Amino acid sequence: MISVDISNIWGEIELNDLLKMEKDVFRAHKTLTEGRGEGNDFIGWLNLPTFEMTEELRRIKAAARKIRETSDAFVVVGIGGSYLGPRAAIELIKGQNHNLNEDDPQVFFAGNNLSTAAWQDLCKQLEGKDFSINIISKSGTTTEPAIATRALKWMLERKYGAEKAKERIFVTTDPNKGALRQMATEEGYETFVIPPDVGGRYSVLTAVGLLPMAVAGIDPAEVMLGAAQARKDFDERSFNNPVWLYAAARNLLYQRSKKIEMLCCYEPDFKCFGGWWQQLFGESEGKDGKGIFPATAEFTADLHSLGQMIQQGERTLFETVVRFEPPRRKTAIELDWKNLDGLNYLEGKTLDFVQEQAFLGTLDAHVDGGVPVILVQAGDVCDRTLGELFYFFELACGISAYMLGVNPFNQPGVEFYKKNMFHLLGKPGY
Ligand code: PA5
Repeated sequence: MISVDISNIWGEIELNDLLKMEKDVFRAHKTLTEGRGEGNDFIGWLNLPTFEMTEELRRIKAAARKIRETSDAFVVVGIGGSYLGPRAAIELIKGQNHNLNEDDPQVFFAGNNLSTAAWQDLCKQLEGKDFSINIISKSGTTTEPAIATRALKWMLERKYGAEKAKERIFVTTDPNKGALRQMATEEGYETFVIPPDVGGRYSVLTAVGLLPMAVAGIDPAEVMLGAAQARKDFDERSFNNPVWLYAAARNLLYQRSKKIEMLCCYEPDFKCFGGWWQQLFGESEGKDGKGIFPATAEFTADLHSLGQMIQQGERTLFETVVRFEPPRRKTAIELDWKNLDGLNYLEGKTLDFVQEQAFLGTLDAHVDGGVPVILVQAGDVCDRTLGELFYFFELACGISAYMLGVNPFNQPGVEFYKKNMFHLLGKPGY
C-alpha cells in the first residue's frame, strides 16, 4: 500500500498545524464522498474501481485481443484527460521505448497537438503497417482529436475499404451526447463509455485508460484491482490514511507561501505520469486566483538543470518525491583495471545503490536549502501499483481542491483559448 512520509516538512510546519487541519481534511473528504460539494455531478470516478470483473472490462479485454491480433500499430487519438492517463500508464509499465518491444503492437498518440511535423511523422510510422485506432473524446467535439480522426479514418478507409475499416475504429465517448457518439452510431463502430459523471482528467480508470493499456499488454483487471484496494484503504478518516497526509501537507505548505509543487521521480519512465498528475491538479485547483502550480522533474537528470533553482532560487516550492521499490534484477558496476574514469571506488556496487545515495543526498540538500519534501512510497512498478497510484492522486486532488475552496471538477479557463482560436479560424458562431 502507498505510504506518505512528511518527516521532511517539519522545518516549515509544526505538528500542531497538521493536527489543526484534521477537521478540514475530514470535512473535505466527507463533502466529496457524500456529493455535497460544487461539481458534485462529476464524482462518478470515486466508485469506478471494484474487485469484480465488469461487463465493460470483459469487452475491453476482448477488443484489445482483437486489436493485438490484427494490428501492428494502434493509434490513440485524444487530448488532455482523454490522452495523458493511457500514455502515463503505458510508459510507466512498458517503458518509454515500448514501441521497440516486438511482443506488443506499437502504440502511437495523435490528436494531442496541431503540429504538422508530428502528423507527418505519424503517417510515416504507419506506412505499410496494419493499424487500428481508438478515438477518445468525452465531448466528441474537441478540435485537435477531431482533425486527427478525420484524417485517420480516411487512411483506414483507403487502406481497407469502408466496411473493413469500421472493424478497426474504436470509439470511447459519452454514452449519449456529442458528434463522436453520433458518428460512431451512424458508422457502426464499437464504442466504450465515459460515464457522464466522470470528467476527462478523472477518467483514466474507464475505457479511456483501460483499452489502450490492454492493447499495450497491461492487464486492466490488475490495474482495477489495485485501484479497488486503494478505494477501500483510502476511505479511512484519519491521518493513518496517506491521502489525508498528502492533502493536508500540501495545503499547509501552500498556506506558508509554497506556491509550486514539483512532483519528482528517479524513474525516467514516470515522466508521463507526471504529465497526467500535472493536468489533474492544474485543472482541478488552478482557479479563482488560487492553486498550487504543479511542476514535474525527473531526477537525477533535472538535478543538472533545475537543481540550481531548487536549491537556491526563490523559496516558493516544495517537492513530492514518488519512490518505487528497488529493482529485483540488479545491475552492478564493474572493475576497470585502468580506472581512467576514477570509478573503481564503486566496483561491485549496484546502480540502484548509487541511485539511493543520490536520493538521500538530494533529500538532505533540498531540505537544508528550505525545500520541504513529501515522500510517496509506491511499492513495485506493476499493474496494481499503477491503479493504486491513479486512485491515490485522484482522491487526494478532490479532497485538496475542496480544502482550497475551489470546484475540482470544472475547467472554465480552458475555454478562453478555444474561443479565440475558433474566432480566428472562422468557425460558425464565433
Ligand atoms: O479534464 C478535462 O475535462 C479536459 O482536459 C478534457 O479531457 C480535454 O479537454 C479533452 O476533452 P474531450 O475528452 O471532450 O475531447
